[in-house]
Amino acid sequence: MHDVAGGLAAIHAMGILHRDLSPSNIMVADNGIAKILDLGLSRDAAVTSTDVTRAGYLVGTLRYVSPEHVDGRECGFPSEVFSFGVILYEALSGTHPFSAEHDMSLLYNISQRDASPVRTRMSACPARLDRLLATCLAKSPEDRLQSMALVERELEEIMRLSDWTSTETLQIAAPMPGHVAPQNPYGNRVMIRRREDFFGRAQEVRRIFARLNATPPGSMSIVGERKIGKSSLMNHVYARSVRQRNLEQSEKTVMVFLDFQQAKQMSVESFVRELLGIANIELRGRLDVSDCALSLDGIKDLVQRLEADGFRLTILLDEFEAVTANPNFNLEFFAFLRFLANHYNVSYITSSARDLQVLCHDKEISDSPFFNIFSTVRLSVFDRKEAEELIRKPSEAACKPLGAHVESILDMAGLFPFFIQMACSHAIDYLNDHPDAGAPDFREVRRRFYEEAKLHYRYIWEGLDTHEKSTMLRVARGKSMPDALKHVLEELESRHYVEPAGGRPRLFASTFDEFVRKESRDGGTSLLGRLFGMKSG
Ligand SMILES: Nc1ncnc2c1ncn2[C@@H]1O[C@H](COP(=O)(O)OP(=O)(O)OP(=O)(O)O)[C@@H](O)[C@H]1O
Ligand SMILES: [Mg+2]
Repeated sequence: MHDVAGGLAAIHAMGILHRDLSPSNIMVADNGIAKILDLGLSRDAAVTSTDVTRAGYLVGTLRYVSPEHVDGRECGFPSEVFSFGVILYEALSGTHPFSAEHDMSLLYNISQRDASPVRTRMSACPARLDRLLATCLAKSPEDRLQSMALVERELEEIMRLSDWTSTETLQIAAPMPGHVAPQNPYGNRVMIRRREDFFGRAQEVRRIFARLNATPPGSMSIVGERKIGKSSLMNHVYARSVRQRNLEQSEKTVMVFLDFQQAKQMSVESFVRELLGIANIELRGRLDVSDCALSLDGIKDLVQRLEADGFRLTILLDEFEAVTANPNFNLEFFAFLRFLANHYNVSYITSSARDLQVLCHDKEISDSPFFNIFSTVRLSVFDRKEAEELIRKPSEAACKPLGAHVESILDMAGLFPFFIQMACSHAIDYLNDHPDAGAPDFREVRRRFYEEAKLHYRYIWEGLDTHEKSTMLRVARGKSMPDALKHVLEELESRHYVEPAGGRPRLFASTFDEFVRKESRDGGTSLLGRLFGMKSG
């Protein structure tokens, strides 16, 4: 990274801005020297960019843009100091300082949220390096180091004074989680972002748009198990091209996507700030709402201005339990959201792991009429056709077709899109590792799959109560179900962990079955045995 700082300083000395800094534009040569590539967007620093979008796209790589770029202000050398800071932070800690599931939230974080000090994310970080990163990542360009030459010099000092050697510490991080390696189209482990990676869910998408096209627009609550594809579905609905195809008034519909993944203890103030901040980014060039007050009245003001201009507003709230289960949000807050939906062309699409009422922190709220405005989309596992499409299409496009192995993959992974992706990714990895193999060796693929999946299986398992665990065990062992557990079985079937399979229930995947059996051997079932008359072991 020291070489990169030096390279940038040299480009800047010629009066040129790179304008598209990102790790993919940095190459480390065989001799260990890093080089900066792709000066395609570079231009003379005297020509400044004041427009955040060009034909709706951000110029440059979204993850590494500066706050002034997001806000549509002038970008100069300090903007590249910021981008460099993000890359360095990511290289050192393996995490992006402003990470978010969604692009708009990412932009909001870049523009508004402070990064946690890098020392909180990596051990043994010299204080001076921590300070350097903090100054590179300052929100205001004036507060940053003003040139890459200064950054380079500071890095040199840090390397000289610290015990570290440059190769131990300042290396480019491993690929980010969720980053799709080009040779494996199944790298997705977080929300699907690209339209071409999104499969199935046609019926759900139709239902959601039918509600949004109604007058007044209706709200939807997407409910589904962990990792079943809630955020991916929301993001798909949010994608501009999908909206254009499905919304009757797409030009007159504003969508604001709020992602609460990182914000479990949010306050009403931060909710308001995020909503107005993202609406402001969304509306740039169409309507100026930057002066709305940071309060519920400010949101009402925003809604009234939109209404006056003939706009409809849809607010997408991913992981809405961060709000309903959060004591900072009181009855008045939910009454306010309901008021907006009842009096203006405002609708909500929420996602949550359970029904929203169940997740409320207060009975008065769960009994309140707020929840009546929602119609629920219960997200199921993929059906067979959707699953086959996910197995066939990306693998064919990558010239490593898996269509002949649908049965092996579905046996291993079941119908959860998440586990299908995981199984396919290990199958493709196997083919990449063994270019001469005609087909994947499914014993090996299964072994690798199990290593990754068992962490998620454990998460599922730990979330079950004793009745649910013992029901699962009975299913795994093919035992009959006592009447007392039949309703538990039904509940597990509705959550897709157990498949009815023509009257002989079975666990959703053979690997999950293996996990549950191992768990019963290793975890001890004497308590369960006593409770339900089973023998342990
Ligand atoms: N429609 C889809 N097409 C292809 N893959 C999908 C789809 N939906 C989900 N997946 C797979 O499942 C993974 C999890 O999806 P997503 O993050 O949307 O789920 P989620 O329900 O929001 O999860 P969480 O409970 O963690 O919020 C994705 O990374 C992808 O591998
Ligand atoms: Mg999600």
